[in-house]
Amino acid sequence: MNLPDSFPAYYDDLALSFEEAWGVIAAGVTNRNSPSHMPAVGTVDAGGVPQLRIMILRDVLRDARTLRFHTDSRSIKVEQLRHNSATSVLIYDPAAKVQIRMSGKTHFTATSEIADTAWSTSTTFARRCYMAESAPGAPCAEPSSGLPNWIEGKQPEEEQLADYRPNFAVLLVKIETIEWLYLANAGHRRAQWQWDPAQNEWSGRWLIP
Ligand SMILES: Cc1cc2nc3c(=O)[nH]c(=O)nc-3n(C[C@H](O)[C@H](O)[C@H](O)COP(=O)(O)O)c2cc1C
Repeated sequence: MNLPDSFPAYYDDLALSFEEAWGVIAAGVTNRNSPSHMPAVGTVDAGGVPQLRIMILRDVLRDARTLRFHTDSRSIKVEQLRHNSATSVLIYDPAAKVQIRMSGKTHFTATSEIADTAWSTSTTFARRCYMAESAPGAPCAEPSSGLPNWIEGKQPEEEQLADYRPNFAVLLVKIETIEWLYLANAGHRRAQWQWDPAQNEWSGRWLIP
């Protein structure tokens, strides 16, 4: 097939598309300007309604098929995940012209070494949001940041944060499927990889876009 020089090597190559997909996902951890840094994360609420929100991607462990996010342990999404661990993660990288849809199950951890490390290695400013006095999503009579007055507009000291550590939690999304959509004028390319637990490997196939 004659393809223009500008076609990426992965255009017709399933294995290379898989590598590229992980490259796009992992860029979200190292490059704050990458769209993968702020994916949409979907959970399912008690009524079966999909609920999406933007979250910062903190880490990608390809071998463990795991994406790490940080959140407030009192948040509505955590309550949803307690009842239904099904989770989707969506990325669109306009420069790469790639959409990546992932789905899997989320493990919630608030009291573990991984949560302790995630807490202690986050900046004090990032951890300030866990100082909110009421749970995120709680109604309030006045417009409010939820933060105590004394810390509004200030960066907390390490010792001021200690009492709020229980509000911090880590979400580990174990990926089971990855879907890839590459946009090209000449013809889009779509592929899907499913984790095969029996074979302990990813199994991929092309799909009609
Ligand atoms: C750019 C951006 C980054 C965000 N990052 C996070 C995050 O890392 N963790 C988080 O829990 N919420 C984050 N949020 C807030 C969520 O989108 C959401 O509003 C909040 O977590 C409440 O969601 P819930 O009610 O479904 O639990 C972010 C929002 C934006 C706009």
